Amino acid sequence: MSDGKINLAVVPVAGRGTRLLPLTKSQPKEMLPVGRKPVVQYVVEELARCGVERFLFVTGPGKTAIENHFDIDVELVESLRESGKEELLKELAFERADLDYFYTRQRRQLGLGHAVLSASAAVGNEPFVAALGDSIIGLHAQSRIVRRMIDEFQRQRADAVIAFEIVPREDVVHYGIAQPERPPDAASDVFRLSGIIEKPSPAEAPSDLAVAARYVFSPAVFEHLRATEPGKGGEIQLTDAVQRLIQSGGKVLGVRLPPSERRFDIGNFGSYFRAFLEFALADDEYGPELRQFVQGLL
Ligand code: G1P
Repeated sequence: MSDGKINLAVVPVAGRGTRLLPLTKSQPKEMLPVGRKPVVQYVVEELARCGVERFLFVTGPGKTAIENHFDIDVELVESLRESGKEELLKELAFERADLDYFYTRQRRQLGLGHAVLSASAAVGNEPFVAALGDSIIGLHAQSRIVRRMIDEFQRQRADAVIAFEIVPREDVVHYGIAQPERPPDAASDVFRLSGIIEKPSPAEAPSDLAVAARYVFSPAVFEHLRATEPGKGGEIQLTDAVQRLIQSGGKVLGVRLPPSERRFDIGNFGSYFRAFLEFALADDEYGPELRQFVQGLL
């Protein structure tokens, strides 16, 4: 770690995306378009605005399109120049951001916890952000939540800080669910966790606060991941390692997403369609006419 800054993000992108077949048969779900950009570009831009400078992708089979996307494509730049399409160069400006990209492989598909653990040798002994590559936070990724989480992590000397969103009771089965020490109130959206459980039934769920794809971890999470047995779905769950961290006395905080920074989930068709429509409707150039078009259809 350089000068105590938290500027490294682990971005797991190894999942097969089976809920989006056939769309994801030969392309990563993290490369699906949402409006003008692929999902993973929003994730990188969101985190870069929050101070992240190094990205460690945990990839798997069929994910090289992600690596290609962040390369500097000299031939493409030259051909745009030669064919007088300079105005398109601004669309490639993200390639030149002063960011570092690293790639490691999850060599077996054993779950999200295992994917994060696959990054441990590369992360070493520094705190890091974990950001799931199939979730965009905020319209056009305009979210500062990770900055807030890093600041709370450092200010409160936490072992982990996790973003949460409120979900309807019947949906808790899809998420990691928080057990807050005290219910968060309107005055404070930061709370301490006394437990966390992966994908409980509505009856078991200790709250309606669902893990929202962004985490800040101390490297201590790795030792808990190493000790975590397969859980829900036979997978090594990140949530279960966080529960171990809490049980060993670790300080784990939750931060609630403000309503203006909703999570857009690109993991299933229903939420993917909604995300695309909302981003397209907010497009400066085509949004207004799309709105009229959709209104005409309804
Ligand atoms: C994963 C995590 C879960 C979290 C969700 C959204 O689930 O295991 O705790 O709530 O991401 O961030 P998945 O969507 O991979 O099933």
